[in-house]
Amino acid sequence: MKGFVDEMRAVAMKLHTKDQAREGEKESVDPPIAAWNPSVDGYLKFLVDSKVVFDTLESIVTTALHPSYGEFQNTGLERSEQLSKDLEWFKEEGYSIPEPSKPGIVYSSYLQQLAENDPPAFICHFYNIYFAHSAGGRIIGRKVAEKILNKKQLEFYKWEGSLSQLLQSVRIKLNHVSSGWSREEKNHCLEETEKSFVYSEDVIRLILT
Ligand code: HEM
Repeated sequence: MKGFVDEMRAVAMKLHTKDQAREGEKESVDPPIAAWNPSVDGYLKFLVDSKVVFDTLESIVTTALHPSYGEFQNTGLERSEQLSKDLEWFKEEGYSIPEPSKPGIVYSSYLQQLAENDPPAFICHFYNIYFAHSAGGRIIGRKVAEKILNKKQLEFYKWEGSLSQLLQSVRIKLNHVSSGWSREEKNHCLEETEKSFVYSEDVIRLILT
């Protein structure tokens, strides 16, 4: 039986460009990852802003700002601590860690506002951020590591246990939480997907600055 997550995934896949994913339908504007020429400084900006976003998501879920968010505590997908370790590693390697910049700060305050006022829209972002990181995020991590980190695998791209099992149990929770929504609320959640791409792409683009 298909659940609501299948609908969320279908909407998200269409918003990929054709070179990002097989199911993508959009024409690309940015160069494909294989042609990226990343710098460590740009990548550090991306990691710092990603941490701002994951810190926000994880504190919203920990405090269960809305009761339904409580289901998503300790999913094993959390990324905040891993990013702290990675930034610590860069520091030890002699890099200076930049302050958070606009894309991360803007996305974080948007998430905070949605979490308080609009649970179906917040859950849309929650889904897209964690699932994007497990798919495209890892592709980015691998390519960047090959080009500028001497293949060093960051903690950001490591999960305890089986990632596919962690994702599967979050899919079940997402289906459960959304089963209490009206069709209007479900549609509203799906419609939010586009914004989640726009905000996340602004953070990803930091890699190329
Ligand atoms: C899945 C690539 C950006 C959301 C995927 C998949 C790939 C991919 C290859 C797996 C497709 C499959 O299952 O066959 C990329 C690349 C990106 C990117 C290369 C950027 C350079 C994004 C962004 C979002 C996003 C910005 C949303 C914020 C998702 C979601 C899935 C997905 C929700 C489904 C994951 C699942 O079903 O487990 N992406 N993606 N992606 N992506 Fe992306």
